[in-house]
Amino acid sequence: MAVIVVSNREPYAPSVQDGRVTWTPSIGGLTSALDPVMQREGGTWIAWGEQHPELGHADLPPAAPRYRVQRLALSGDEVQRYYHGFSNGALWPVSHYFVERAQFRADEWAAYRAVNARFAQAAIDAYRPGDLLWVHDYQLALVPGLLRAALPGARIGFFWHIPWPAQDVFRTLPWDRELLSGLLGADLIGMHTAAYARHFQDACERTLGIETGPGTVAVDGRTVRIEARPIGIDVGAFETLAAAPETAERAGRLRDNLRTLVLLAVDRLDYTKGIPERLDAFEAFLDAHPRARGRVSLVQIAVPSRERVEAYLQLRQQVEGRVGRINGRFSRDGWTPVHYVFRGLDREELVAHYRAADAMLVTPLRDGLNLVAKEFAASSADGVLLLSRFAGAAGEMPGAIEVNPYDRDGLAERLLAALRMPLEEKKARLDGLRRHLRDSDLRTWTQRFLHDLAGPDLLPAALL
Ligand code: UDP
Ligand code: G6P
Repeated sequence: MAVIVVSNREPYAPSVQDGRVTWTPSIGGLTSALDPVMQREGGTWIAWGEQHPELGHADLPPAAPRYRVQRLALSGDEVQRYYHGFSNGALWPVSHYFVERAQFRADEWAAYRAVNARFAQAAIDAYRPGDLLWVHDYQLALVPGLLRAALPGARIGFFWHIPWPAQDVFRTLPWDRELLSGLLGADLIGMHTAAYARHFQDACERTLGIETGPGTVAVDGRTVRIEARPIGIDVGAFETLAAAPETAERAGRLRDNLRTLVLLAVDRLDYTKGIPERLDAFEAFLDAHPRARGRVSLVQIAVPSRERVEAYLQLRQQVEGRVGRINGRFSRDGWTPVHYVFRGLDREELVAHYRAADAMLVTPLRDGLNLVAKEFAASSADGVLLLSRFAGAAGEMPGAIEVNPYDRDGLAERLLAALRMPLEEKKARLDGLRRHLRDSDLRTWTQRFLHDLAGPDLLPAALL
């Protein structure tokens, strides 16, 4: 029995120099979560080979291979219509409640269907009886249905990594029925929160007219389970890296360079993350509290993302315009209020940033979960987490300061409260957060999902 993961994004991206291939971790919650899972379980991971599609497969991670990535080559037209088009121009905005940004095009939907069929075929080719098929995220919603048709007896799991919106929003999608039916090919569907799972069941009832039970949907004589299972992180790995002397050195250098209190934000450059709104709140904070000028800096890490989608290009301009305005208005001898970094950081750099921060601003307008919030809580020694009430993780992290990203002045005031928080309170909050993270870490998440998918009779005892 082996695990076969199917996702759009691959865990490591190749670059080739002088005939030598180097693999760099991809950035995003899905790959952050699943790479350690696959490193432990082994198996096959089917994903889109964006760069160097001629590399058909690879054994990864590069230093100590544990699993095989089967890379699917997509044509330029498929990438445009399936990935940039339907996935990121329609399904992503609707799922995040940005209906006005969604564009529905029949040709993109056709490409989405065709590419989903290609992923399904690759999984069917890799499948051996007894394997567990585990499909991931909104780019591949039709794959479970296609797998079920070809492999009626297979165990098929699905995890939806983004929000599932309320029914009145979901039904703006012209192909809502097809998407739901595709997902219901799975035996077990995981979501990050109970609200997303409830919305999904609502959709089954109201769009498909199917009766649902508590956490179940009955379809074609099968019972599909729908469960809220927020992804955890490998708390121990973050704690160890955070405590390493090299991390302390890097964090110390960062603080020495800034010589102020440090606010940190880390996001893919995505309009769901609330970056312009956060910058506006920081500007309001500097306006309202002149004494903070020269004493507080905001480090904004913005990872380039989906740059061929128009909305993302516009966002970059908006963000960089605001950074320029704030720095233009407030910079003075040796102090720059916003340090804007337009690139992704590797794990070591990232954790050093978490460690250097006095407060972490996780303020998405809407987010499926947000792993950055959990990673910060696991890494920080005495920082404060400000967390949007619209992030899926908010329900699990009572030690964070809850913020409303739409409330600029409220957010500005909470920044001040975070920076003034007494050390004992900061530590008590972090302790509480860490306890929860340990109780529901990545290993527990994986074992529960695979255990329930396989049924206890199928899994080796070591995994139970
Ligand atoms: N990340 C990273 N380098 C960066 C920024 C982010 O490796 O410079 C990782 C981060 O550690 C986290 C993931 O990217 O695991 C982002 O996941 P999250 O759920 O916060 O948001 P997503 O990007 O999936 O929307
Ligand atoms: C989110 C999505 C993932 C996606 C990631 C990065 O986490 O849920 O499916 O992989 O963003 O986005 P990208 O488009 O680069 O894969």
